[in-house]
Amino acid sequence: MEKLTYTHDAASAAVIARFYPDAPPLAYVHSFGCQQNVNDGEKIRGVLMDVGFGLCENVEQADLILFNTCAVREHAEQRVFGNVGALKKLKEQNPRLVIGVCGCMAQQAHIVDKLRKSYPYVDLVFGVDGIDRLPAMLAQRFTRGKRYLEDPRTRNAVVEDLPIRRDSGFRAWLPIMYGCDNFCTYCIVPYVRGRERSREPEDILAEFRDLVAHGYKEITLLGQNVNSYGKGLSQPIDFADLLQRLCQVEGDYQIRFMTSHPKDASRKLIDVIAAQPHLCRHIHLPVQSGSDRLLKAMNRHYTIEQYKDLIDYARQKIPGVTFSSDIIVGFPGETEEDFAATLRLVEEVGYMQLFTFIYSPREGTPAAKLPDPTPRAEKTARMERLLATQERVSYAAIAAMAGQTVRVLVEGAGRLPGTLNGRLDNNLVVEFAAPDSLVGQYARVRLTGSRAALLLGELA
Ligand code: 5AD
Ligand code: SF4
Repeated sequence: MEKLTYTHDAASAAVIARFYPDAPPLAYVHSFGCQQNVNDGEKIRGVLMDVGFGLCENVEQADLILFNTCAVREHAEQRVFGNVGALKKLKEQNPRLVIGVCGCMAQQAHIVDKLRKSYPYVDLVFGVDGIDRLPAMLAQRFTRGKRYLEDPRTRNAVVEDLPIRRDSGFRAWLPIMYGCDNFCTYCIVPYVRGRERSREPEDILAEFRDLVAHGYKEITLLGQNVNSYGKGLSQPIDFADLLQRLCQVEGDYQIRFMTSHPKDASRKLIDVIAAQPHLCRHIHLPVQSGSDRLLKAMNRHYTIEQYKDLIDYARQKIPGVTFSSDIIVGFPGETEEDFAATLRLVEEVGYMQLFTFIYSPREGTPAAKLPDPTPRAEKTARMERLLATQERVSYAAIAAMAGQTVRVLVEGAGRLPGTLNGRLDNNLVVEFAAPDSLVGQYARVRLTGSRAALLLGELA
């Protein structure tokens, strides 16, 4: 694996400045999909600012519009095509407008082809490994006066020192690894994000220290499978070791992480969560299905028994720990019996939160070739049953929390005027009356009740 370091590209910055002689250009950057993508979007903004762009919040003001895309489900891709299509008019009014599509969708040859042929007003296309080269791509676009569409490529590298413009002053994303080697049969991620590569612990630690020093209260470590952190590094280190090293940093902060693959989440990791007060007592542990038969077909490498053992172990070691999960409904060949096993698991574990998805075939993945006789209407009906089960289980658990006093990180305005939302350690949200000045701070809140998944409370 190669480690690259970003350096300011003065030559490209000069070309960009010449293209916009009157005023500094404005960029509109929108990221779809996961937190990794959101973090990439923050780096894209950072890089653009490094070469003279300002930022804007709506497309009408923008000189450059960039969609940082997600490929994980078809719906996400359709939304991007819809958004891009809507820009045609804007481009006709302003031929100097630069429209770009980047990220996971642009890692697929058939998507790049479609953009090339059917969206002639898209000027710039590049994949997930192009952020550091964005100034050079823009410069090339301006000097040659031609579209710059890059064919999908992956570079087995980690780029350090990218400038970043973070969305929040108190919650930060911190990627610890990139890519995925698991090849779950439904998933496009290993094909678009490339092979697993971990950042050096020293680089992670330096960024982490910097965040804490700047007052960040919550730092979320990111990776497609954080539990395989460390593979391929010259020094022996695993994810639990990394967490322990980070927790040595002094300060007033909490750490979250995502995503944990159940096959790699170790008891050592659970022990570290139990021992380190900086770590939130909440584990996102995507199970995908409650059926061993389907887990095998998904290439997940664990059984429900192993999964439940891990949950039991965590419950023993970490008082008050809560879990959330991702579940796919309607994987090819899912029977009523398989689905019933998923419902049973949801009841047994008692997840605080579920992220549920109807299976979406992704071109190039093994599952897309499997026969899938279940009608769409049946899949939708299963989804509704799953949501009803989840609501029953989690709403009861949430309502039972009334009376507790908890620490929350105050995130922003609540739904009602004069209220704020705070997030508990376990990722639930509580609404309570408080002054705006508390945003970005920790507060103690007494829980008084709940409405569906939302907790209600008052400042303690
Ligand atoms: N169809 C539906 N859901 C998917 N996910 C990943 N690939 C697909 C797909 N092809 C879900 C998984 C994963 C989450 C991020 O997205 O549940 O954990
Ligand atoms: Fe996709 Fe599986 Fe990798 Fe997660 S672990 S990104 S679901 S292949």
